[in-house]
Order: sequence, then structure tokens, then C-alpha cells
Amino acid sequence: MQSFDTNGPFQQNYKFLIGSILPRPIAVVSTINEDGTNNVAPFSFFTAVSASPMIIAFSPMIKSSNGEMKDTPRNILREKEFVVNFVHEDIIDQINLASTELPYGEDEFKFSGLTPIDSEIVKAKRIKESLIHFECKFRDRLSYGDDPGCGQIITGEVVKIHVDESLLDSGRIVTDIYRPVGRGAGNDWILCDHRIERERLMKAQIQK
Ligand SMILES: Cc1cc2nc3c(=O)[nH]c(=O)nc-3n(C[C@H](O)[C@H](O)[C@H](O)COP(=O)(O)O)c2cc1C
Repeated sequence: MQSFDTNGPFQQNYKFLIGSILPRPIAVVSTINEDGTNNVAPFSFFTAVSASPMIIAFSPMIKSSNGEMKDTPRNILREKEFVVNFVHEDIIDQINLASTELPYGEDEFKFSGLTPIDSEIVKAKRIKESLIHFECKFRDRLSYGDDPGCGQIITGEVVKIHVDESLLDSGRIVTDIYRPVGRGAGNDWILCDHRIERERLMKAQIQK
């Protein structure tokens, strides 16, 4: 085995993070810019945190290009709300385009060909082409520094869930219809088209 210290340049740690923690789910976060225009970008440092209250978390890092905070956290800290849109196979290319680092105020919906639609509770728009949307109210921020590569945890409480009817069977989302995708290392995207199932041995079964 090779071993590595983590106190060197952040790029090395980053490679091991994205090469080890995968597949990663992707939150496509839409927000409102200061002038009222739309912003949208994908984040794969993303997870579920709590079912009640319903909380999700993601981590926008400080930009390695110029050491500045990304537009998404900047907008969330001001507006205190955002939408998490989910990715399926048909919209990978548009979501990839939405990750382009455009100057602040330039609309990645327009740039990537995604269609903004109104949310019910928050001002940030939802992505019409996305099959699941979570409207979120900002809850917490935990920052790990201000230098390039430093992350921050942003949590949001999901106040409204929208799911396309075609995905639902008896109130559950069907993975094979949804066709979600994850993020891998480098520029990899991972399809969920090869699943296996294992029943869990709950205590009652072990005691039988
Ligand atoms: C699939 C994918 C996942 C990404 N995940 C992250 C992430 O977890 N954290 C991050 O800081 N940037 C991530 N990025 C890069 C951001 O999307 C990119 O920096 C974007 O321009 C940020 O937009 P904003 O400045 O409008 O917030 C990811 C890019 C892609 C394509």
C-alpha cells in the first residue's frame, strides 16, 4: 500500500477524495443572483442528513481559479433559500454545461439550455427537465477556511418536494424509471443501470 500525508497541496487530497468517495450523488443547485437573474450549478459533495426535519447538505469549495466563493453559496447566504434539482441520464450534457464558471450574474440556465420554472415557496427557479426538485430554506453553514479548495457545509431544510408522476409506483420512486446518475473521478459520470439487491438481516431474522 502507498500512504500519503494530507498536509500538501489541496489538489492531491482532492484527487483521493473524488477517486475514493464514489459514485457521488449530484445536487444541481439553483439560486437567484443579486439582480434577480438565475444561477444554477451541480455539486457532488452532497448528501442526505435528516429525515425529520428533512435536511440535505452540500459543499461548494472556494474556487481554485481565483480564490473566491462560488456564486451558489454567495446567493444562498444572501437569499437564505435554494432549490436542489436531480439529474437523470437524459440531461447529463446540459448539467455538465451548467458547471461552467461564468462571471457572476450570467445565467447558466440560458447557457446550458435548461428551462427555469417557478417554485411554489422559494424564489429560486426549478429545472423543468429535472424529474425531482427539493425547495430548500437555508439552515446552517460550517466553513473550513477561505483558501482555494477549502470546503464549507451548507445545509438546507427541504420545505417542498416535487416528483414527476412517471417515476412513482405506490408512492415510491422507481430507480429504473428515474435513471439517476452519479459523479465519479475526474470527468466520469456513473449510470445506475446495474443494481443488485440484498435483504438486510434485521434482529428479528437473526433470532429465528
Ligand atoms: C458533476 C459535477 C459535480 C461538481 N461538484 C462540485 C462540488 O461538490 N463542489 C464544488 O465546489 N464544485 C463542484 N463542481 C464544480 C461547480 O459546478 C462549478 O465550480 C460551478 O461553476 C459553480 O457554479 P457557481 O459559481 O454558479 O456556484 C462540480 C461540477 C460537476 C460537473
